[in-house]
Amino acid sequence: MKLFSVKNKKIIITGATGVLGTAMAHHLAKEGAHIIIIGRTASKIEHLVEDIRSKGGKADAFLADVTSETHVIQAAAQIQKRYKKIDILINLAGGNMPDAVVRPDQTLADLSADAMKKVMDLNYQGTFIPIKHFFPLMLANGSGNIINISSMAASRPMTRVAGYASAKAAIDNLTKWLAVELNHKHGPEYRVNAIAPGFFLTEQNRNLLTEKDGQLTQRGHQIIQHTPMGRFGDPEDLLGTLQWLCSDASKFITGTIVAVDGGFSAYSGV
Ligand SMILES: NC(=O)c1ccc[n+]([C@@H]2O[C@H](COP(=O)([O-])OP(=O)(O)OC[C@H]3O[C@@H](n4cnc5c(N)ncnc54)[C@H](OP(=O)(O)O)[C@@H]3O)[C@@H](O)[C@H]2O)c1
Repeated sequence: MKLFSVKNKKIIITGATGVLGTAMAHHLAKEGAHIIIIGRTASKIEHLVEDIRSKGGKADAFLADVTSETHVIQAAAQIQKRYKKIDILINLAGGNMPDAVVRPDQTLADLSADAMKKVMDLNYQGTFIPIKHFFPLMLANGSGNIINISSMAASRPMTRVAGYASAKAAIDNLTKWLAVELNHKHGPEYRVNAIAPGFFLTEQNRNLLTEKDGQLTQRGHQIIQHTPMGRFGDPEDLLGTLQWLCSDASKFITGTIVAVDGGFSAYSGV
């Protein structure tokens, strides 16, 4: 359907080799987009490119750690040389970090300032730096569309995951601020939105949500109980919202944070 088309759009995806990113990159490639992968592990980005191409999709990859401005500037220069312009940036690189979590036997006194800085660097700076240095490729295009990745922890902090929740809250704020800034300074053809996924069983949260034998932890149980749909999300659950935000179907939408959470954020628990 044309309204939701992403055909021939040039889409940069950071964190594309992760669990959610791999599903998104394959889906958008299958829908005819040209995927430009940014990743910090050469073997992983090369493997994803080969995989997408072997299925008939279009993909390329550039090596960069999103927390390094130098790396991202270099990647932007390479992309500019090859493509001149891009349509969409999806900022998926991010995640929780074990040292920025307060274990049940710990208190605030155990929370390392260094770990808090690292989790902010990855999630917040790792979103801001790609936006700053890939945005000129959107200006060259005359239009642009940025999709950030938030979390349920952003709007209502969750126990234990102090740093990650703060970083994702900052991403929500940046999403709204930037939506206004880009329209005021560069015109109505620029959009910035975020997706706030609910709970998807992936590497970053597997230890918090499941035991080694795959049984749910107490926290895992609590989450399922507070999710009206009664399950964790599958990466495929994000694809419809992603395609909608990437396409002209959402062309009057900017500055929003869309929850894809099985009802988690609507439920008070009572
Ligand atoms: N899973 C969930 O339930 C959930 C819920 C809400 C939000 N999210 C968010 O969704 C996004 C993707 O999550 P996921 O579950 O797919 O995570 P994941 O499987 O852990 O993937 C994370 C991705 O980010 C990349 N990455 C990490 N640090 C990077 C850096 N410094 N520079 C460049 N790339 C880096 C990883 O590459 P390497 O493998 O090379 O390190 C990987 O491709 C994250 O922002 C996460 O916070 C996830």
